[in-house]
Formats: sequence, structure tokens, C-alpha cells
Amino acid sequence: MHIINLKEAVAVGKADSGLIYVNSEPQIRPGRKDYILGDLMFKGQIVQFRSWESDVLEILREHGKGIYKAETLGQEYKNFKYLNIRSIDLYSDDAVTKEDFQDRVPTSELENNWSTVLCQLQERGLSDICRQLIDDILNDPELEGRFFTEGAAVKHHDNQIGGLWNHSSKMLRILVALLDNNKELLDSVDLMTFSIVVHDLGKVFEYDALSMSEHWYANHRVRGIEFLVKYRDRIIETYSEEFYRQVQAVIAGHHGEYGDRPTTVAAVIIHYIDSLESQATELLREQEAAPQSKFINPGFGYLESIMPDKNF
Ligand SMILES: [Fe+2]
Ligand SMILES: [Fe+2]
Repeated sequence: MHIINLKEAVAVGKADSGLIYVNSEPQIRPGRKDYILGDLMFKGQIVQFRSWESDVLEILREHGKGIYKAETLGQEYKNFKYLNIRSIDLYSDDAVTKEDFQDRVPTSELENNWSTVLCQLQERGLSDICRQLIDDILNDPELEGRFFTEGAAVKHHDNQIGGLWNHSSKMLRILVALLDNNKELLDSVDLMTFSIVVHDLGKVFEYDALSMSEHWYANHRVRGIEFLVKYRDRIIETYSEEFYRQVQAVIAGHHGEYGDRPTTVAAVIIHYIDSLESQATELLREQEAAPQSKFINPGFGYLESIMPDKNF
């Protein structure tokens, strides 16, 4: 059965029918007539749906996240495009699964990038002890291998299988460039590398296969710090209490002005690396998803797409 391509289906006035994946718990909003709204996902694209049909509302309220057969209509309200669900039915077959709606970074690409960047860091002084610590933590049974499969976000940058690993790997590449530009950072290569690897590790608990987990509200900074307590004695014995506290400060402060105020230089630098990586990736994702070359960015308003050199 045909999966609805959200990018095409959201065009105003376009009617489509096929399979959809509801990626968040739908919410009911009061209005002249109560309506239900939530998010649909298809290959990294997230599009909001709304419906005013009472049977759609009932079915979604009862069954929540999952795959459905639906009839949709692209609509717009104050420049905001969404899909109106006209009718819906449960999808009970198993030919199409959740994975068919999710995007993924190829595993071979992730593995190559990861081993390459760690070698580059070792050339710049990353210790074998740190490399071993990273491997042991990421393969801790409690994580069930999900550092390697979870998304870096649900709606934004790298919201795909392998996205968290990809995001962390890309940040390490930026760190390599910084180590070459600012030699005084070389003395802290273990701290910087280790802190980047664990800065978003708590997303394994905040998210659940590219959607919010049951306990999402205790955010990934809190959960990351909590998880790392398990390794506290080993980190303090290997390095010092100072090192451990510095790592905690990075996890707590890496959102900069959008979270707890950073309290260390490492936390601020990693906040900048994190913002550069995630925002550049997000901008290119928004550009890719935009039906026209001009699109609205939440931070800066209207932006014109970047032009490939061959078009000049
Ligand atoms: Fe984060
Ligand atoms: Fe991050």
C-alpha cells in the first residue's frame, strides 16, 4: 500500500490517500468544534496534522502513535501548512512497519566516520585509556546499543536512525579543526573528546526510536549526568575528580543560553560546537523540506536557499 509522501501531500488543496505514521501522542484542542492535532513523520519530514472529524478524533485518541490508513488534504492557516485528515482507519497488516517511515544514516558511513575521527584525535594526543573508556560506556548493556541507533532529535536536526551517533561524530570533526586552530586546547583533548561523546548520551532515555519517551520530561542533560554516575569511580581513578566534575559541567551547560548557564570554558566551547553542527544541519534540512527556494526559518525569518556553484 502506498505511503503518503508528506512533502507532496502538504501542498494546499492536494488530496491523497495511503499510509501515514503518527509520531507523537495526539492532542485534543478546544475550538468552535473540538479538533485533534499531532505530528506525522516520513523519512525525516515532520508535518503537523489536524482533524475535525469526530471518528478520526476517537480512533486517534484511543490508539495514539502508530501507522494508519488515511485520506488527507493539504491545507494552510496563516502561512502554516498542515494535513487535514478526512478519514482514518487502523493499519493492521505487517507489510509496512515503522522503519519504512524512518530515515537512517547508513551504518557503514557512521562506522567509517567514527573510526576516522577517533584516529585523528589519537594523532592529536587522545589517550588509549580515554578511547577504551568511550568504547566501554557506549557499549554499556543498559544503553542496549541505542547510542548508535537513536536520533539526535525528534523533529529537528538528524531526526533519523543513527542521528545521535552522526551528530556526535560530526562534532568531533569540528573539535579536530579547533584543536588545529587553537593549540592550547591540545592539553585537554581527552576532556573535550570524552565530553562531546557523552554530552547528548541521555537522549537514549529522553527519546524512544525517534519519538519522545515516557519520561522525556527529565531531559537528556539530567539523564546523561545520572547515567555517568555509574562510571564516576573509574573516571576519578583514571583522571581526577576535577575531570569528572568538568564533564558534568559540560553535560549540564552545553545548551548555553537555552539551558543552565555554562560554568566552564569547556562547556561554552562545546556549546558552540554543538550549535554550529546542529544548526547547520537543521538549516539544510529545512531547505531540503521547503517546497520553494525561499523558506521560513524560526530564528531568522525568510531565507533564500543556498545556490549550487553550477547555477552562477
Ligand atoms: Fe543536548
Ligand atoms: Fe548535541
